[in-house]
Amino acid sequence: MEPVISLTGVTAELGGRPVLRGIDFDVRPGEVVALLGANGSGKSTAVRATVGQVPVTGGELRLFGTPVRRFRDWARLGYVPQRSTAAGGVPATVREIVSAGRLARRGLRPLGRADRAAVDRALDLIGLADRAGDSVNALSGGQHQRVLIARALTGEPDVLIMDEPLAGVDLASQRVLAETLRAQIAGGTAVLLVLHELGPLEPLIDRAVVLAHGRVERTVEHPAQLPEAHACHPEDELEPSAVAKLQTGIL
Ligand SMILES: Nc1ncnc2c1ncn2[C@@H]1O[C@H](COP(=O)(O)OP(=O)(O)OP(=O)(O)O)[C@@H](O)[C@H]1O
Ligand SMILES: [Mg+2]
Repeated sequence: MEPVISLTGVTAELGGRPVLRGIDFDVRPGEVVALLGANGSGKSTAVRATVGQVPVTGGELRLFGTPVRRFRDWARLGYVPQRSTAAGGVPATVREIVSAGRLARRGLRPLGRADRAAVDRALDLIGLADRAGDSVNALSGGQHQRVLIARALTGEPDVLIMDEPLAGVDLASQRVLAETLRAQIAGGTAVLLVLHELGPLEPLIDRAVVLAHGRVERTVEHPAQLPEAHACHPEDELEPSAVAKLQTGIL
Protein backbone atom coordinates (compact mmCIF):
# COMPACT_ATOMS: atom_id res chain seq x y z
CA MET A 1 0.00 0.00 0.00
CA GLU A 2 1.19 3.50 -0.81
CA PRO A 3 2.46 5.40 2.25
CA VAL A 4 0.31 8.22 3.60
CA ILE A 5 3.47 10.17 4.46
CA SER A 6 6.83 9.46 2.91
CA LEU A 7 10.10 11.30 3.57
CA THR A 8 13.21 10.42 1.57
CA GLY A 9 16.43 12.29 2.34
CA VAL A 10 14.41 15.34 3.40
CA THR A 11 16.41 18.42 4.34
CA ALA A 12 15.18 21.75 5.72
CA GLU A 13 16.76 24.93 7.05
CA LEU A 14 15.58 27.45 9.61
CA GLY A 15 17.24 30.79 10.18
CA GLY A 16 19.92 29.83 7.65
CA ARG A 17 20.96 26.72 9.59
CA PRO A 18 20.36 23.12 8.51
CA VAL A 19 17.78 21.60 10.88
CA LEU A 20 16.77 18.45 8.97
CA ARG A 21 19.83 16.80 7.44
CA GLY A 22 18.32 13.95 5.45
CA ILE A 23 15.32 12.34 7.08
CA ASP A 24 13.81 9.05 5.87
CA PHE A 25 10.65 7.47 7.20
CA ASP A 26 7.21 6.38 6.02
CA VAL A 27 3.79 6.26 7.63
CA ARG A 28 1.54 3.72 5.96
CA PRO A 29 -2.28 3.63 6.09
CA GLY A 30 -3.55 2.72 9.55
CA GLU A 31 -0.07 2.87 11.05
CA VAL A 32 0.92 4.77 14.21
CA VAL A 33 4.45 6.18 14.10
CA ALA A 34 6.02 8.04 17.03
CA LEU A 35 8.81 10.58 16.54
CA LEU A 36 11.13 10.66 19.54
CA GLY A 37 14.34 12.54 20.32
CA ALA A 38 15.96 15.25 22.42
CA ASN A 39 14.80 18.85 22.52
CA GLY A 40 16.04 20.52 19.34
CA SER A 41 16.58 17.25 17.43
CA GLY A 42 14.16 18.34 14.68
CA LYS A 43 10.90 16.58 15.58
CA SER A 44 8.64 19.64 15.27
CA THR A 45 10.46 20.76 12.13
CA ALA A 46 9.89 17.34 10.53
CA VAL A 47 6.19 17.54 11.45
CA ARG A 48 5.86 21.13 10.27
CA ALA A 49 7.51 20.23 6.96
CA THR A 50 4.95 17.44 6.62
CA VAL A 51 2.04 19.86 7.01
CA GLY A 52 3.59 22.36 4.58
CA GLN A 53 4.67 24.94 7.16
CA VAL A 54 8.43 24.56 6.66
CA PRO A 55 9.81 24.43 3.10
CA VAL A 56 11.70 21.30 2.12
CA THR A 57 15.09 22.24 0.63
CA GLY A 58 16.11 18.78 -0.58
CA GLY A 59 15.04 15.17 -0.82
CA GLU A 60 11.41 14.21 -1.33
CA LEU A 61 8.33 14.52 0.85
CA ARG A 62 5.15 12.91 -0.45
CA LEU A 63 1.63 13.00 1.00
CA PHE A 64 -0.71 10.29 -0.26
CA GLY A 65 1.80 9.76 -3.09
CA THR A 66 1.83 13.43 -4.21
CA PRO A 67 4.94 15.61 -3.80
CA VAL A 68 4.21 18.13 -1.03
CA ARG A 69 4.63 21.14 -3.33
CA ARG A 70 1.78 19.86 -5.52
CA PHE A 71 -0.40 18.56 -2.67
CA ARG A 72 -3.72 20.41 -2.22
CA ASP A 73 -5.92 17.97 -0.28
CA TRP A 74 -5.07 19.42 3.15
CA ALA A 75 -8.44 18.44 4.65
CA ARG A 76 -7.17 14.82 4.68
CA LEU A 77 -4.70 15.87 7.39
CA GLY A 78 -5.57 16.71 10.99
CA TYR A 79 -2.83 18.70 12.70
CA VAL A 80 -2.29 19.44 16.40
CA PRO A 81 0.65 21.86 16.72
CA GLN A 82 3.06 21.79 19.64
CA ARG A 83 1.51 23.75 22.45
CA SER A 84 2.71 27.29 22.76
CA THR A 85 2.46 29.16 26.01
CA ALA A 86 1.67 32.41 24.20
CA ALA A 87 -2.04 33.25 24.30
CA GLY A 88 -3.65 33.66 20.87
CA GLY A 89 -4.44 37.19 19.78
CA VAL A 90 -8.03 36.62 18.69
CA PRO A 91 -10.40 35.38 21.38
CA ALA A 92 -12.51 32.52 20.03
CA THR A 93 -14.90 30.22 21.84
CA VAL A 94 -14.22 26.56 22.45
CA ARG A 95 -17.00 25.66 19.98
CA GLU A 96 -15.57 27.95 17.29
CA ILE A 97 -12.12 26.41 17.53
CA VAL A 98 -13.44 22.83 17.39
CA SER A 99 -15.77 23.76 14.49
CA ALA A 100 -12.78 25.03 12.52
CA GLY A 101 -11.61 21.43 12.13
CA ARG A 102 -14.91 20.64 10.44
CA LEU A 103 -14.79 23.74 8.23
CA ALA A 104 -11.49 22.60 6.69
CA ARG A 105 -13.29 19.45 5.62
CA ARG A 106 -16.30 21.32 4.19
CA GLY A 107 -14.35 23.93 2.28
CA LEU A 108 -16.22 27.21 2.50
CA ARG A 109 -19.71 25.71 2.79
CA PRO A 110 -21.53 26.45 6.05
CA LEU A 111 -21.74 23.72 8.68
CA GLY A 112 -24.78 21.46 8.45
CA ARG A 113 -26.55 19.34 11.06
CA ALA A 114 -24.10 16.44 10.75
CA ASP A 115 -21.19 18.84 11.22
CA ARG A 116 -22.74 20.34 14.33
CA ALA A 117 -23.36 16.84 15.71
CA ALA A 118 -19.70 15.93 15.09
CA VAL A 119 -18.60 19.07 16.94
CA ASP A 120 -20.94 18.20 19.86
CA ARG A 121 -19.49 14.66 19.98
CA ALA A 122 -15.95 16.04 20.06
CA LEU A 123 -16.84 18.52 22.83
CA ASP A 124 -18.39 15.70 24.86
CA LEU A 125 -15.37 13.53 24.31
CA ILE A 126 -12.90 16.09 25.63
CA GLY A 127 -15.21 16.80 28.56
CA LEU A 128 -15.67 20.46 27.70
CA ALA A 129 -19.28 20.54 26.45
CA ASP A 130 -20.22 22.79 29.36
CA ARG A 131 -17.47 25.25 28.35
CA ALA A 132 -18.46 25.39 24.64
CA GLY A 133 -19.41 29.06 24.76
CA ASP A 134 -16.39 30.17 26.79
CA SER A 135 -13.39 31.92 25.29
CA VAL A 136 -10.42 29.56 24.89
CA ASN A 137 -8.38 32.20 26.70
CA ALA A 138 -10.34 31.28 29.84
CA LEU A 139 -9.18 27.63 29.70
CA SER A 140 -6.25 26.04 31.47
CA GLY A 141 -3.29 24.87 29.36
CA GLY A 142 -4.34 21.22 29.40
CA GLN A 143 -7.96 22.08 28.54
CA HIS A 144 -6.72 24.20 25.64
CA GLN A 145 -4.68 21.27 24.38
CA ARG A 146 -7.77 19.03 24.52
CA VAL A 147 -9.62 21.61 22.39
CA LEU A 148 -6.88 21.46 19.72
CA ILE A 149 -7.07 17.67 19.67
CA ALA A 150 -10.88 17.81 19.32
CA ARG A 151 -10.48 20.24 16.41
CA ALA A 152 -8.18 17.79 14.60
CA LEU A 153 -10.53 14.85 15.27
CA THR A 154 -13.74 16.52 14.04
CA GLY A 155 -12.32 16.82 10.55
CA GLU A 156 -12.27 12.99 10.33
CA PRO A 157 -8.85 13.12 8.68
CA ASP A 158 -7.10 10.18 6.98
CA VAL A 159 -3.96 11.03 8.92
CA LEU A 160 -3.57 12.72 12.28
CA ILE A 161 -0.32 14.58 12.85
CA MET A 162 0.18 15.60 16.47
CA ASP A 163 3.14 17.35 18.07
CA GLU A 164 3.34 16.38 21.76
CA PRO A 165 -0.45 16.18 22.03
CA LEU A 166 -0.40 14.97 25.62
CA ALA A 167 1.94 17.61 27.05
CA GLY A 168 0.19 19.16 30.03
CA VAL A 169 -2.85 16.88 29.74
CA ASP A 170 -3.77 15.04 32.95
CA LEU A 171 -3.64 11.24 33.05
CA ALA A 172 -7.42 10.76 33.05
CA SER A 173 -7.74 12.87 29.89
CA GLN A 174 -4.74 11.10 28.34
CA ARG A 175 -6.54 7.80 28.80
CA VAL A 176 -9.73 9.16 27.20
CA LEU A 177 -7.71 10.45 24.25
CA ALA A 178 -5.87 7.14 23.91
CA GLU A 179 -9.23 5.34 23.68
CA THR A 180 -10.47 7.84 21.10
CA LEU A 181 -7.33 7.41 19.06
CA ARG A 182 -7.69 3.65 19.27
CA ALA A 183 -11.15 3.95 17.68
CA GLN A 184 -9.84 6.27 14.94
CA ILE A 185 -6.96 3.90 14.17
CA ALA A 186 -9.35 0.93 14.03
CA GLY A 187 -11.26 2.95 11.42
CA GLY A 188 -8.10 3.19 9.29
CA THR A 189 -6.67 6.57 10.33
CA ALA A 190 -2.87 6.80 10.24
CA VAL A 191 -1.10 8.72 13.00
CA LEU A 192 2.25 10.51 13.19
CA LEU A 193 2.92 11.87 16.63
CA VAL A 194 5.77 13.50 18.50
CA LEU A 195 6.12 12.24 22.05
CA HIS A 196 8.40 12.66 25.00
CA GLU A 197 6.56 10.22 27.23
CA LEU A 198 4.80 7.28 25.67
CA GLY A 199 2.23 7.05 28.48
CA PRO A 200 -1.17 5.53 27.68
CA LEU A 201 -0.42 5.73 23.93
CA GLU A 202 2.36 3.15 24.09
CA PRO A 203 0.20 0.13 23.16
CA LEU A 204 -1.02 1.93 20.02
CA ILE A 205 2.43 2.63 18.56
CA ASP A 206 3.63 0.47 15.66
CA ARG A 207 7.01 2.09 15.14
CA ALA A 208 9.23 4.70 16.77
CA VAL A 209 11.62 6.88 14.77
CA VAL A 210 14.29 8.43 17.00
CA LEU A 211 15.80 11.70 15.71
CA ALA A 212 19.15 13.16 16.76
CA HIS A 213 20.72 16.32 15.31
CA GLY A 214 18.30 16.42 12.37
CA ARG A 215 18.87 12.80 11.35
CA VAL A 216 17.17 9.49 12.04
CA GLU A 217 19.30 7.89 14.70
CA ARG A 218 17.36 4.64 14.74
CA THR A 219 13.98 3.12 14.05
CA VAL A 220 12.34 0.72 16.49
CA GLU A 221 9.95 -1.60 14.66
CA HIS A 222 8.37 -3.48 17.52
CA PRO A 223 6.48 -1.72 20.27
CA ALA A 224 7.88 -4.08 22.92
CA GLN A 225 11.37 -2.81 22.08
CA LEU A 226 10.44 0.85 22.41
CA PRO A 227 13.07 2.78 24.32
CA GLU A 228 12.15 4.27 27.67
CA ALA A 229 11.04 7.83 27.05
CA HIS A 230 13.74 9.22 29.28
CA ALA A 231 16.41 7.40 27.30
CA CYS A 232 15.37 9.34 24.20
CA HIS A 233 16.11 12.79 25.46
CA PRO A 234 18.94 12.43 27.97
CA GLU A 235 19.74 16.10 27.57
CA ASP A 236 18.83 19.03 25.36
CA GLU A 237 20.83 19.34 22.20
CA LEU A 238 23.06 22.32 22.75
CA GLU A 239 22.87 24.88 19.99
CA PRO A 240 26.12 26.64 18.99
CA SER A 241 24.59 29.92 20.17
CA ALA A 242 23.87 28.41 23.61
CA VAL A 243 27.46 27.18 23.89
CA ALA A 244 28.74 30.64 22.97
CA LYS A 245 26.52 32.21 25.62
CA LEU A 246 27.71 29.76 28.24
CA GLN A 247 31.31 30.51 27.39
CA THR A 248 30.80 34.26 27.56
CA GLY A 249 29.02 33.91 30.84
CA ILE A 250 25.80 35.56 29.70
CA LEU A 251 23.70 32.63 30.94
N1 LIG B 1 11.88 29.42 13.53
C1 LIG B 1 13.11 28.98 13.75
N2 LIG B 1 14.21 29.70 13.37
C2 LIG B 1 15.45 29.24 13.55
N3 LIG B 1 15.73 28.05 14.13
C3 LIG B 1 14.70 27.30 14.52
C4 LIG B 1 13.34 27.72 14.37
N4 LIG B 1 12.52 26.75 14.87
C5 LIG B 1 13.34 25.79 15.33
N5 LIG B 1 14.63 26.10 15.12
C6 LIG B 1 15.81 25.29 15.49
O1 LIG B 1 15.73 24.04 14.84
C7 LIG B 1 16.17 22.99 15.68
C8 LIG B 1 15.09 21.91 15.76
O2 LIG B 1 13.95 22.47 16.38
P1 LIG B 1 12.60 21.64 16.58
O3 LIG B 1 11.58 22.60 17.07
O4 LIG B 1 12.31 20.89 15.32
O5 LIG B 1 13.04 20.62 17.73
P2 LIG B 1 12.17 19.53 18.51
O6 LIG B 1 12.85 18.21 18.28
O7 LIG B 1 10.76 19.64 18.15
O8 LIG B 1 12.42 19.96 20.03
P3 LIG B 1 11.41 19.97 21.32
O9 LIG B 1 11.49 18.59 21.91
O10 LIG B 1 12.03 20.99 22.22
O11 LIG B 1 10.06 20.37 20.86
C9 LIG B 1 16.52 23.64 17.02
O12 LIG B 1 17.90 23.82 17.08
C10 LIG B 1 15.80 24.97 16.96
O13 LIG B 1 16.51 25.95 17.69
MG1 LIG C 1 9.08 20.25 19.20
